[in-house]
Amino acid sequence: MNYKKDFPIFTERPDLIYFDNGATSQKPQVVIDAMSDFYRQSNSNIHRGPHFLAEEATILYEDARRTVADFIGARDSKEIIFTKNATEAINLMAHSFGSLLNAGDVVVLSKLEHHANIVPWLQLKERIGIELRYFDIAEDGFIKFDPELIDERVKLVSVSGMSNAFGTITDLPPIIKAAHEVGAKVLVDAAQLAVHRPINVHQLDIDFLVFTGHKLYGPTGIGVLYGKEALLNQMPPFLGGGDMVNEVTIDRFSPAELPHKFEAGTPNISGAIGLKAAIDYVNKIGFTKIQKLENELADYLLKKLNELPYLIGPKDGKNRGSIVAFHIEGVHPHDVAEGLSQKNICIRAGQHCTQPLHDACDLPATARASLAFYNTKEEIDRMVEVLDEIYKYFH
Ligand code: ALA
Repeated sequence: MNYKKDFPIFTERPDLIYFDNGATSQKPQVVIDAMSDFYRQSNSNIHRGPHFLAEEATILYEDARRTVADFIGARDSKEIIFTKNATEAINLMAHSFGSLLNAGDVVVLSKLEHHANIVPWLQLKERIGIELRYFDIAEDGFIKFDPELIDERVKLVSVSGMSNAFGTITDLPPIIKAAHEVGAKVLVDAAQLAVHRPINVHQLDIDFLVFTGHKLYGPTGIGVLYGKEALLNQMPPFLGGGDMVNEVTIDRFSPAELPHKFEAGTPNISGAIGLKAAIDYVNKIGFTKIQKLENELADYLLKKLNELPYLIGPKDGKNRGSIVAFHIEGVHPHDVAEGLSQKNICIRAGQHCTQPLHDACDLPATARASLAFYNTKEEIDRMVEVLDEIYKYFH
């Protein structure tokens, strides 16, 4: 089955080889149609409008919330907050959950986090003087879980479920168990994980989880924060404005109930509808199939790159997704990406918003191929062929 036919960009650009799915994935026709149908047939604002069209838009928006809740195994759709992206969702956490913390409280991160899961906590540290601790990175590119870092002062452990740079998948249960034993909460950055593996927040007892729509074949501008209802209820609103309030006087306001308390202003209605269509599309294929296809592709790519001395991070397919970082001796990753781009092949080069990870591994930069289930082995062969040409050109 060739899934490329579901994605119009591959018909529009038949020569395109797209290996930058970790940055953003391509969009299937069903997502484009769902968003366009909304604007053509049902466009209205939600919640406030006392007319049938507003009601229709509200139903579509809330239906999207339910789809997201089911997708990650949340018990109630009010535990799903729509945000702009995963970055905004973590910023919401750092401001709102962060406002419940005091100087000297500890947040534990890892050195492989995306900047989105480091900078908001550094900002909170600057604001109120929390302490940050970091799990180190093992030789093979996985988070090195160190229970010694988790003591009674820790209030939150916030880690990536899957590295956006190396594709390594974090073993979450021991981290969650250790955090809960001292009463700390756990936030999982699932920006990459949600695209490649099924997640059940309830089964894993995850307190908070974020992901973004655009990496999951949905549109840009829509992200998700999941939080356990009791915890979200304890947290103050993040942004203020319309829709997030119950009552407002000139002196005070009272926040609305969940999930609206955290959704100030007109939300990204079409984005939520597009995300629902993307999740429906992914569910229809199923993660069993997606994982099988992606594992085959990742194994094939690893084998090819292992034949050349190019690989960084784990050398085998164990506990990793289809994101692979590599480096060609004597060629800057930006030149690698530029050389591939000239042959219609898109990869990402640089530090992939993970400077502390690159520092920890003593790497100035890497090239990264991030594959989706719609990619093919022939595309990998072509990339490796061009990599050889690039190597020869620079030597
Ligand atoms: N976070 C995205 C990436 O890893 C942009 O490329």
